[in-house]
Formats: sequence, C-alpha cells, structure tokens
Amino acid sequence: MRIGIIGLGYVGLPLAVAFGEAGCEVVGLDVDQGKVDQLNAGRSYIEDIPDAALAPLAGKLRATTDYDEMAECDAVIICVPTPLSDAREPDLSYMIESAEPLAKVLRAGQLVVLESTTYPGTTRDRLLPILETSGLTAGSDFHLAFSPERIDPGRTDYTVKTTPKLVGGVTEASTEAARKLYAEICDTVVVLSTPEAAELSKLLENIFRSVNIALVNELAQLCDRLEIDVWEVIDAASTKPFGFMRFDPGPGMGGHCLPVDPFYLAFRARQLDFYPEFIELAGKVNQAQPGFCVERIERALNAVRKPVNGSRVLVLGVSYKGGVGDVRESPALKIVGRLQDLGAEVAYHDSFVPELPGHGLSCVDLEAGLAECDIAAIVTAHPDVDYDHVVATAPLTIDFRGVTRGNDADNLIRL
Ligand SMILES: NC(=O)c1ccc[n+]([C@@H]2O[C@H](COP(=O)([O-])OP(=O)(O)OC[C@H]3O[C@@H](n4cnc5c(N)ncnc54)[C@H](O)[C@@H]3O)[C@@H](O)[C@H]2O)c1
Repeated sequence: MRIGIIGLGYVGLPLAVAFGEAGCEVVGLDVDQGKVDQLNAGRSYIEDIPDAALAPLAGKLRATTDYDEMAECDAVIICVPTPLSDAREPDLSYMIESAEPLAKVLRAGQLVVLESTTYPGTTRDRLLPILETSGLTAGSDFHLAFSPERIDPGRTDYTVKTTPKLVGGVTEASTEAARKLYAEICDTVVVLSTPEAAELSKLLENIFRSVNIALVNELAQLCDRLEIDVWEVIDAASTKPFGFMRFDPGPGMGGHCLPVDPFYLAFRARQLDFYPEFIELAGKVNQAQPGFCVERIERALNAVRKPVNGSRVLVLGVSYKGGVGDVRESPALKIVGRLQDLGAEVAYHDSFVPELPGHGLSCVDLEAGLAECDIAAIVTAHPDVDYDHVVATAPLTIDFRGVTRGNDADNLIRL
C-alpha cells in the first residue's frame, strides 16, 4: 500500500514512521522545505523519532512538497495544524490550503482521512465539498473519514500501535476503508457511526483533561489561601482505588491541543445557540493560572524584601510539558512576558528550547543561571534537571510542578 501523509509535524511524522515500519511505502508532504530536506537526509526534528528510527526506512519513506505525488497514493492522511484565529475562533485555513491542491489530483478509489483535531461537522461540511470539486463523489468514487490523532508527545508507554484508533467515515464503505487502513498499524481500531462522532470523541478527551486540570488548578489557589499543601491532598485522594482520577495542578495549560480544542467545540455550540459554560469556565481558570504563578513569584520575592522590578528570575523549563521542546501556548511564555513587563531581569534554562525570540532570550547555562538569580521558578520539569540541586544552589526556589515534594528546605516554596 502507498500512503500519503500531508503535514509532517508531531502527528504526521510518527504516523509516517508507523506506516513505514508496517511495510507500506510512505510519501510525506509538507510545505516546509526545511522539514522535507531533513527527512530526505534521514534526520528527524521530532524528539520522539530518533534518526535511528528513520534509517531502516530509507527507500520506503520519503518527503516532498509536490501535491502531484498524492495522486499515486492509495490513502492520503491530512495532519495539518488546526489552531485558533486572533479572534479565538477555529482557523481551518491550513486544512483548506491542503485540501484544495489535493482535490486537483484526487482520483477514484482513493481514501482521504482527516486526523487534525476539529469541531464536529468539519469533515462532512468543510472538507468534503472541497474534495468534491474534483468531480468525484465522496463515499462512492472516493472514501472520506475522520480519525483523530491521540498521540501524546514524550509518552513511551503507549504508541501509535498500542493506542486504539477511532474511525468514522461519511459512508459505511468509507468507514470500512479507514478501518482497514489503520488495522495495518494499530492493534485496535474502534469503528464509529459518523465522522461527527469521531470528531466529538477527540474533543471530549481533551476537554475532559482541561476541565479536570482547571479543577485542581483552582484547588491549588484555594489551598494557597487555606495554607494546605495541595500535593498532599491530591496524593491522599489518589489512594482511592475507584471513582477518582489523578490530575496535577501546574502553571497552566499549554500545547497545541488542550488550550485550543475547547474553543473549537464552543464555537460549534454557539452556532447552535448553545453556550457550554463548563468548558469555557475551565478554559478561563486555566488561562488565569500563569497570572497566579507570577503573583506567587512576586510574593516570594517580597518575603525576602525584594521587588520583582530589577530582581533576577531564572525560569526553569519553558516548553509546555516536560521532555519536549514545543512552546506552543506554553504558560511559561505568559509568565516570562508578565515578569518582563514588571521589570524583572528574566533568564531561562531549557535544554529543549535554545531560543525564545519573542522575548529576546536564549537558554542560559543552568549553573550560571542558578549562581546569578534571586529566585529560580520551576515552570516545566524536564528529566535532565536535578531539582534538589536547584533548591540547594539557588537562593530561593518556587516549584509550580511539585517535583520537589519531599524536600523541606526553608528557601523552597511550592504551588
Ligand atoms: N501535537 C500533538 O500532541 C497532537 C495530538 C493530537 C492531535 N493533534 C492535532 O494534529 C494536528 C497537527 O498537529 P501537529 O502537532 O502535528 O502540528 P505541527 O505544526 O507539528 O505539524 C503540522 C505540519 O503541517 C505542515 N503544513 C501546514 N500547512 C500545510 C499544507 N497546506 N500542506 C502541507 N503541509 C502543511 C506544517 O509545515 C507542519 O510541518 C492538529 O490538528 C492538532 O490539534 C496534535
């Protein structure tokens, strides 16, 4: 089977590798010539895909910027970004810009699958009409389905193969074509009745996380006032073997998905004159969390008679989660920006993120940063940092991730 994958990012590249490893011929397409060149030279730019994983696929997996090559594929999977516009509404421009050239080369018998996270109705109402400008009819001449990507960058216990895959096609035949495709690489394929159900399932998964993270973030703010250790409370509740699922508080939500996806559903709901308060409230609480963290830094400095203006703050970890270099929607960016606005001299250390051009900063050496700071703020915990050493070296440390639990040092404050 020959598979075309449009968009070779955090989602598309691991998928391309999985199909390559399953013995398929894979043609990856990206508008980013740099990514295409790197892949064709056998170099990966995604943390979870080492170069060694690409080496055995030489000859089976190649990259291109040319949509004509999609005509030769049995299945084409779209994995392009679905961000928010400036007005915080769904921005489907990447999907549209990939679907239009695809429609020009679409041929009978092909299967097209959308994997990008989006609101219910996108596949049928937005993608299908563009593809049908080819003159072909979806569901009969060509197949069309939605199958949400569930990848969690940095996770190793579940892979593309072992994470069940959802599929929903515009007709039963399309669903069956999608099921067969993913059975090549996934142990379990779950069939849904429609693309809309598959689109909404993905949003439910992410909104479930968003709501629960908001709950514990709000609890952390309350615990601050109650002078109760939120981590102790969560550890205790987590001993219940049923009816409770652990979520940890932190500096706020980041990444391409969690801060964005609730807005996709809220947008669709508003079109139907429905206002999903739960979802929007969770977004609001999580968006406010970086501001709360800045306030905690100010209070920590105040306690040692230092104003934030002119204080040297070392931010540890600026990507949105540990072990990855993705800074999209990272709460660290809000924290750094707000501290800079308040006049703090901000430096950061993050071995996964060499530069923060938007803030005029480059990663500093950890030891040098610790030696020069007034306070170290653990915003994102990476596996390569010894946090007990941080606490022992910095004059003051504030931990927004709970990685210093068990350390009772006097110069340490936790969320
Ligand atoms: N990153 C995750 O953890 C994750 C998990 C599940 C779902 N998703 C969803 O998957 C989708 C893709 O996310 P991602 O993290 O892989 O994004 P990404 O930015 O890492 O990759 C997207 C790629 O698409 C390319 N692209 C943009 N426009 C294009 C076009 N017109 N033609 C061809 N290529 C184009 C970009 O150059 C980029 O390489 C999004 O909808 C996202 O919500 C992401």
